[in-house]
Amino acid sequence: MSPRYSCIEVALDADRVDAASGLLVGAGATGLETRDASTLVAGPTGRAVLIAWFDAPETATAASERLGQWLGPEKGSAVTVKAVEDPGWKEAWRDYFKPMRFGRRLWVAPPDRDPPEGATDTIIRLLPSGAFGTGTHESTSLMLELLDDLVRPGQGLRVLDVGCGSGILALAAVRLGAEQAFGIDVDPEAVEAARENAEKNGLDGPCRFAGTPLDEVDGTYDLVLANLSAPVLIAEKGKLADRVAADSGLLLWSGLLDTDVDEVGTPPGLTLVRDLRRNEWVAAAWGRPAKGDDR
Ligand SMILES: C[S@@+](CC[C@H](N)C(=O)[O-])C[C@H]1O[C@@H](n2cnc3c(N)ncnc32)[C@H](O)[C@@H]1O
Repeated sequence: MSPRYSCIEVALDADRVDAASGLLVGAGATGLETRDASTLVAGPTGRAVLIAWFDAPETATAASERLGQWLGPEKGSAVTVKAVEDPGWKEAWRDYFKPMRFGRRLWVAPPDRDPPEGATDTIIRLLPSGAFGTGTHESTSLMLELLDDLVRPGQGLRVLDVGCGSGILALAAVRLGAEQAFGIDVDPEAVEAARENAEKNGLDGPCRFAGTPLDEVDGTYDLVLANLSAPVLIAEKGKLADRVAADSGLLLWSGLLDTDVDEVGTPPGLTLVRDLRRNEWVAAAWGRPAKGDDR
């Protein structure tokens, strides 16, 4: 029997889609689809239809209540929750996922489609799965661009990827030159998908994935990666900062909208090194202040 999911469907103004998507991911959505004027299945003019998928009906119901409160009395918005059979993501994924370049060196591609000739040394291949992370979402692509910029071979970098999803960030970091990466995720299916992707890329030696809670991760890392949602970053920013190596360690985080930046604040003991923004999504790199630097 094909798996069953719960899904929320809502019609809203097109300019509220990003913020609503952030809210739904924060409320536990495991997949999102937007239909608007630019998509194959079009939405109504000036408006969009946002569909969010959830593994459990109670998560969907709680998320729909939060979304309803956030939307307020927006004209014509109706949030509906329904149970559906597997909508065939694994096949649909193939139609939309094409080789994509991030920064100057990095390509992400499905197993059976090659990037253009010449791009051979920094390709990662991702297998279809329900785990988040193909690079098509801004929160992931901003992180990949930061990695392309910061990671070079020979630096001996050790990476912690918190909320690894498909494993895309850990795999990219190692492919770009990091020595090793450890990815963790609260979702066991994500851990399994990340392990399969590591094997597919021949990176199952330097890349390890596990369901270890962040609380139980020991030691510090040169790069801590966290593409999470604003509520999770608020809750976990102290623990994320604790895992950043003294001196030149960095925390790279993503998954927040520019309207979340003030509320999410700053990871304790770290200062902003740089940020990147695209379509309301923000990613930032944080480092320890240099000695004698009172930034
Ligand atoms: C937005 S996805 C990011 C996936 C991938 N790293 C990327 O950049 O595309 C967030 C992931 O974090 C996981 N997650 C959420 N809260 C977490 C937590 N407290 N600890 C570890 N993983 C968490 C989710 O299960 C999900 O796979």
